[in-house]
Amino acid sequence: MFVVGNRASYSSHVRSKGDQMAISKRIEDALNQQIHNEFYSAYLYLSMSTYSDANNLPGFAQWMRIQNEEERSHGMRLLDYLEARSGRVRLGAIEQPPGEFDSQLAMFETALEHESGVTTTIHRLYELAKEESDYPTEVELQWFVREQVEEEKTLQDILAQLRMIGDQPTALVMMDRQLGSRQTEAT
Ligand code: FEO
Repeated sequence: MFVVGNRASYSSHVRSKGDQMAISKRIEDALNQQIHNEFYSAYLYLSMSTYSDANNLPGFAQWMRIQNEEERSHGMRLLDYLEARSGRVRLGAIEQPPGEFDSQLAMFETALEHESGVTTTIHRLYELAKEESDYPTEVELQWFVREQVEEEKTLQDILAQLRMIGDQPTALVMMDRQLGSRQTEAT
């Protein structure tokens, strides 16, 4: 029979929060940067919500508000993770997001461009975790890798619809109704 270990030797390997494998400085810094990126994303989408509201498109505004909440939850998820690993969370200033766009189409183009950048930073972070054999961070980031695929796909679908609509106001109003039905998703 293959013996894994008795109870005494098992308990000697159980680590408390204080003495678990320390997170490296590089990973800690990169996670802090990603926490910042997520909160900036939240702020950017809130700005897009207010732009849509000012354009009398409450459905777009509502959709972007939910996007704002999701990004905030991503930031909190990483923040909770860093704390669970006994890393030090350092919150920096969040820069001013753009507040004006040429159209709803231009706004969503900016959103997609932004998300492509976020995908790149998540992938770099994942590579770093692999390089440092930080398995818990690698596993934590897998959720974000999948989430980015979904986010980019959603934005591409909305952009395709906006391109079809062109400058037909009636179709834009119908799309506004459709986007306004978006519900908060549990993450
Ligand atoms: Fe949480 Fe859209 O990146």
